[in-house]
Amino acid sequence: MPAVTVENVLTLPRVTEPVATAVSRAVRSVTTAPQGFEGEGFPVRRAFAGVDLAALDPFIHMDQMGEVEYAPGEPKGTPWHPHRGFETVTYIIDGTFVHRDSQGGGGVISDGDTQWMTAGSGLLHIEVPPEELVVSGGLFHGLQLWVNLPASQKMSPPRYQDIRGGEVSLLSSPDGGALVRVIAGELDGHAGPGITHTPITVLHTTVAPGAHVRLPWDPGYNALVYVLAGKGTVGPDRRPIRMGQLAVLGAGDLIEVTADDSQESRSPSLELYVLGGRPIREPVAAYGPFVMNTRAELVQAFEDFQAGRLGTIPSEPHPGHDVL
Ligand code: FE2
Repeated sequence: MPAVTVENVLTLPRVTEPVATAVSRAVRSVTTAPQGFEGEGFPVRRAFAGVDLAALDPFIHMDQMGEVEYAPGEPKGTPWHPHRGFETVTYIIDGTFVHRDSQGGGGVISDGDTQWMTAGSGLLHIEVPPEELVVSGGLFHGLQLWVNLPASQKMSPPRYQDIRGGEVSLLSSPDGGALVRVIAGELDGHAGPGITHTPITVLHTTVAPGAHVRLPWDPGYNALVYVLAGKGTVGPDRRPIRMGQLAVLGAGDLIEVTADDSQESRSPSLELYVLGGRPIREPVAAYGPFVMNTRAELVQAFEDFQAGRLGTIPSEPHPGHDVL
């Protein structure tokens, strides 16, 4: 059960039912995210694996982190690592991450919070579970999305936005069948808290069993639907989709999703991460933690990192969990 929810969806502002002539975006592909490990070994699903970058634009990469129930002593994070040229959007559905960077920034995100980090010209950072979660173990589930920056903004100064779960705009689908959390951008005129360099919309939507949802979607944006949990169908042809799968949708005015009548007991609803943005349409040269426009810029990023120009690891011990 996601941390941010409401008792009665019908008390929320409602998304307008799209007009009858609105075109439902057809499914172009459904892919299954391979499972792997990140950082010190926390389990992830690589949501965008096997999908052409042009279809993802302005997004680059997305990991579903967990869902995992850690035993005491087991929770894991990442070591210190650099980024340049894009933004990371980390959404914690359940659990806690402590983050810290080479510029002296940092904080704690948990249970519905989002940390929006514009890496821009570059920094080093670390993300780890807090000491008490390491000791106790417990549930951990989140997402990390990489949003590209246009060439003109790749070298902008690093910036953070810590978005608390309570700041997210909560909406209801027209008939109350779905709870929509607007994390960034806007849906049907309802704005979420995330401020983005590249125009995008990011939603976490919980669809009740059997509910059918039609969300108006900016025709200038691409449209991606990733299933965090549960099963259902997507698009006008009702293509089946289940946990760990990504649907890339084609052109149109709205996104259509239906939750299956029966869901697994551990996840009683269909949980979706729905995202789209205005494509940047620039060449992408991406390698490891850097996303640039040319190979020469990637080489420069590595040289700057090795020379310490993206920052250096602070010497004092980490207050939460020492992984060095
Ligand atoms: Fe990172």
